[in-house]
Amino acid sequence: MRRIEVELGERRYPVVVGDGARRELPTVVAAAVPSASRAAVVTQEGISAIVDPGVPSERFVVPDGELAKSLSGAEALCRGFARTGLSRTDVVIAVGGGVVTDLAGFAASIYHRGTAYVNVATSLLAQVDAAIGGKTGVNLPEGKNLVGAFWQPSAVLCDTGVLATLPPREWASGRGEMAKYAFLGPPGSPPDASILGLDLADQVAACARIKAEVVSADEREGGRRMVLNYGHTLAHALEAEGFEPGRGWDLRHGEAVAIGLVFAAELAHRLGRIDGDRVALHRRVVGAFDLPTELPGGIDPERTLAFMGRDKKAHHDLTFVLDGPDGVEVVRDVGEDVVLATLADMVTAEGGER
Ligand SMILES: NC(=O)c1ccc[n+]([C@@H]2O[C@H](COP(=O)([O-])OP(=O)(O)OC[C@H]3O[C@@H](n4cnc5c(N)ncnc54)[C@H](O)[C@@H]3O)[C@@H](O)[C@H]2O)c1
Ligand SMILES: [Zn+2]
Repeated sequence: MRRIEVELGERRYPVVVGDGARRELPTVVAAAVPSASRAAVVTQEGISAIVDPGVPSERFVVPDGELAKSLSGAEALCRGFARTGLSRTDVVIAVGGGVVTDLAGFAASIYHRGTAYVNVATSLLAQVDAAIGGKTGVNLPEGKNLVGAFWQPSAVLCDTGVLATLPPREWASGRGEMAKYAFLGPPGSPPDASILGLDLADQVAACARIKAEVVSADEREGGRRMVLNYGHTLAHALEAEGFEPGRGWDLRHGEAVAIGLVFAAELAHRLGRIDGDRVALHRRVVGAFDLPTELPGGIDPERTLAFMGRDKKAHHDLTFVLDGPDGVEVVRDVGEDVVLATLADMVTAEGGER
């Protein structure tokens, strides 16, 4: 097993990665939440991973999909916890992808004003990203992840064995987040896809290590943690726009991030922050992860720009996370004209030889 620590002082916790990591759950619960005499296991139908928390437990099955991440979903969980007599010294165990870990983590954060939880991440995306870092939350009809809390788990188990049943599109989505990490090395270091040459558990561990390090440095996203949104401004816009009637492109989150990474490189180039070779390198690295690098057909730059303005991370003018001489960093007040021109260029180039 590979063991990575998220260094947060008294709230530090381990991320355990490897085939069979879920079997460490009883040990991890006993060590991290010794007060627990019962557990609430939150999971989904279709996730076959069986876990043993080592204490008597009750199972809660939540629906599939983003709609499950709602205030009413959190309420239903908390009421279920209360009915089974879960106390604030007990533990919640989230067994699933990012939807389950975000929702169960949020329910844990508010149940009795904060109850311990452990994530058993079962999707690639959750193992490399969502389950680590303590951002929990639910969606509102007005937008994704608008309600939530920073509430760190007591441990994260990333069992690469359970990924065997993950559907192909979910693998692609997880690879999109993995590709992001290929660009978050030290300033000036070339983005690289060498992570792909590692075995699966080492790939996951390499990403988890970067996420843990960024979270340790900036738990509440005061600055540095924002780099984890590399590729995400366009990605969120594409995802939101894709849900509109008549649009109908079907991109999983990580696929949208992949396109967003290429777009961010083109934008950085237009702003004079990186040269053409580095843009080409972005395309090569994203392509190596077997992910899309082109905008979906039928994009209207003006419309997409409007969706970017709704990204909650955009404060006034458009804010992006962009590559540059000092590596990937937050760049504020990017002019709309530059963004539009970059999108328009990508639309024109669509299907061309690039
Ligand atoms: N909190 C954070 O820091 C953070 C970071 C990134 C993403 N997220 C959130 O994560 C969510 C996306 O997570 P996701 O991509 O894991 O999606 P998901 O949780 O919806 O899982 C995708 C699908 O795979 C299924 N699944 C999961 N594990 C499986 C397994 N081992 N075998 C078979 N099927 C399995 C799920 O039931 C679901 O149908 C989004 O809501 C996003 O906002 C949160
Ligand atoms: Zn993401």
